[in-house]
Amino acid sequence: MESLAKGMQAILEHKIFLHGDPCPQCGNTLLAPKMYPNSWTCSECGFRSVTSKTQEERLKDIQIQNRKDEVFNYLRNTSCFGSSKVFNFNFGNYSPIDEKEAKVRNKALSMSEQLAKGIKDDPMHIFLQGGTGRGKTHIAMAMMYEVLNQTKYVKNVRKKVGEEYQIVQVPLAVTFVNWSRFMTLKQESIRDDEKSKQFTLINTALQTADIAIVDDLGKEGNSDWYFQTFDELMEIREDQHIIITTNLEGEDLIKRYGDRSMSRLRKHARGNFISFAGIQDHRMLKEGGPH
Ligand SMILES: Nc1ncnc2c1ncn2[C@@H]1O[C@H](COP(=O)(O)OP(=O)(O)O)[C@@H](O)[C@H]1O
Ligand SMILES: [Mg+2]
Repeated sequence: MESLAKGMQAILEHKIFLHGDPCPQCGNTLLAPKMYPNSWTCSECGFRSVTSKTQEERLKDIQIQNRKDEVFNYLRNTSCFGSSKVFNFNFGNYSPIDEKEAKVRNKALSMSEQLAKGIKDDPMHIFLQGGTGRGKTHIAMAMMYEVLNQTKYVKNVRKKVGEEYQIVQVPLAVTFVNWSRFMTLKQESIRDDEKSKQFTLINTALQTADIAIVDDLGKEGNSDWYFQTFDELMEIREDQHIIITTNLEGEDLIKRYGDRSMSRLRKHARGNFISFAGIQDHRMLKEGGPH
């Protein structure tokens, strides 16, 4: 009779409960109701843990962490930046101080969502335009992080495995390039082997990454060589995501980089424009200067 009751209990346990790790107090197997898969209890000693995750969830966490590491290593290794502070810019620490900034944030958030949805097949060319200190670089990085969050750091790619095609998840490649620094590096790389290697690495990332931020376009010197470099880049990135921050207005951009580059850029730019006009200079605000 007793063994029948035990058998019934075991069947019930399997139907209703998930079986987890050993109890940290007594070693008995922890159980969680299938309805509440994170709520583990030990039927032997009464130990309870509500935070433990199922093995599947834990594996998923590890997988996401590995992808994250891969994505951030690529970002760090292929970026060209003045201060590593840019890597801390995100929506969490963007606090709109007025209506205009709230609008900028909302538009940037909705464009990030659109970019994340079309990460694979729907290229977006995004312009963030305005004066210095207005938060363009902050928003560009925030958008990139938002897309990474929403895509869970991957894109789905169709790949031939053996005889058939399968959908596999590939970590995203994203890069941040301050344009005038990149141009200086290009110049220096002519005579310096180390710089030349660095330049090649960044240049390749700029051409191939899933998302490239080109920061501060228009701040570099005034020479055809610079303009031509941008033209070559746009020829390659014509159908890939790009986020550009610039202090130049539309007409000035055309004057500088020519109509060919600009029409390539405009191809996927409809509606993807954020103006920072009327927004305060945050660098001045920080220094307590006039605003
Ligand atoms: N709304 C905001 N909330 C928090 N920090 C901001 C905001 N707007 C700008 N900043 C900060 O002000 C500084 C200048 O912004 P930045 O993005 O570098 O400007 P820009 O690229 O337009 O020259 C940065 O330190 C940035 O983090
Ligand atoms: Mg900037």
